[in-house]
Amino acid sequence: EEQHKRNIELSTELQDRNHTAASISRFINVMMNITVIGTAAWLVLNNELTAGALIASVLLMRRAVAPVERSITSWKTLQNAKAAFKNIDRRLNLAPEFSQQPPLPLPAGYLSVRKVSFGYSNRGTPTLQEVTLKVHPGEVIGLTGNTAAGKSTLGRLIVGLAKPDSGYVRLDGIDVSRWREEDIGPRIGYLPQSSELFAGTVEENIARMGEVDEQEVVNAAQMSAVHEMILQFPQAYKTEIGEDGSFLSAGQRQRIALARAVYKNPKLLVLDEPDANLDVEGKIALASTIEIMKSRGAIIVFISHQEKVLRFADNVLRLRKGKVTMDLKFNTKKTAATEASPGTTSLATDAKKSAS
Ligand SMILES: Nc1ncnc2c1ncn2[C@@H]1O[C@H](COP(=O)(O)OP(=O)(O)O)[C@@H](O)[C@H]1O
Ligand SMILES: [Mg+2]
Repeated sequence: EEQHKRNIELSTELQDRNHTAASISRFINVMMNITVIGTAAWLVLNNELTAGALIASVLLMRRAVAPVERSITSWKTLQNAKAAFKNIDRRLNLAPEFSQQPPLPLPAGYLSVRKVSFGYSNRGTPTLQEVTLKVHPGEVIGLTGNTAAGKSTLGRLIVGLAKPDSGYVRLDGIDVSRWREEDIGPRIGYLPQSSELFAGTVEENIARMGEVDEQEVVNAAQMSAVHEMILQFPQAYKTEIGEDGSFLSAGQRQRIALARAVYKNPKLLVLDEPDANLDVEGKIALASTIEIMKSRGAIIVFISHQEKVLRFADNVLRLRKGKVTMDLKFNTKKTAATEASPGTTSLATDAKKSAS
């Protein structure tokens, strides 16, 4: 009798405890939701800053940018953003582990874009129609064409920021969207057309908001010939860039964004109008960066509406209204560095010429 009573008391107590635990966990859950959604909303309200910050890293960008952009109009997407931010958080927490892993082996494969069509959902005619291209390691492909031809869209598809409606984009024979992000992220360097920086230090920007590997940051800066420029800043690599990179000129921002793109020696480098804001010195730095990346066997996609900028490329595709209208094979054997034959000039020689 006594024991029975005691049992009932115990089980009631346990139930109570369970109940309390459930309430607490619900409470925590709700608080987390509020925090995450709140953060997402805040980031959306500060849209520009966020886009800049997120774009810093292909690793984080794929899942994060799209939800943030769409959540302005839809609540459901805000839930996706929540998931994305949880992802980011998880990833940032995992970052130290990644850096302890041995470096990934250099893939020997190539970039293959095949019959890719893509349309923005709110538009009638597709932005890209059956675009095919192939780039081998150590090659530079130029993409040219007028404004709105679809160059930047193709660039985004190549780095996996958007998925083709049909056709495929493959790196080493694997769909870019199917690579594990922690594997593909460091392999891809992307300099978007509006190369935004985020509020943080120079080194944090170059390290793509991830954990700062100081040696790799300096390597990237040296490779993109921006090391000396950074050393002139008040606190060198520790200099705070300020909101939207306001501390820097457009050209300086673009050069730091280039260093960010080559951080950790990516296998695939997509540069979208990378020379837009550059002075002569910046153009020479850009040219030498491309030469170095080429010699390391990177696949380089160089987007420019100015065809003459692409004379050093191994191959140039011209886009018109989302279709490839011309495929110009150039100096397949030459590199931007050795390029010297009459009639053609490299980016660097061009830049040097206009300097003198
Ligand atoms: N996020 C977007 N949503 C809807 N349409 C877009 C978006 N981005 C680009 N476009 C449209 O797609 C077309 C190609 O744009 P884009 O790829 O930026 O061309 P380019 O880089 O050659 O100037 C343009 O008509 C542009 O207005
Ligand atoms: Mg563009």
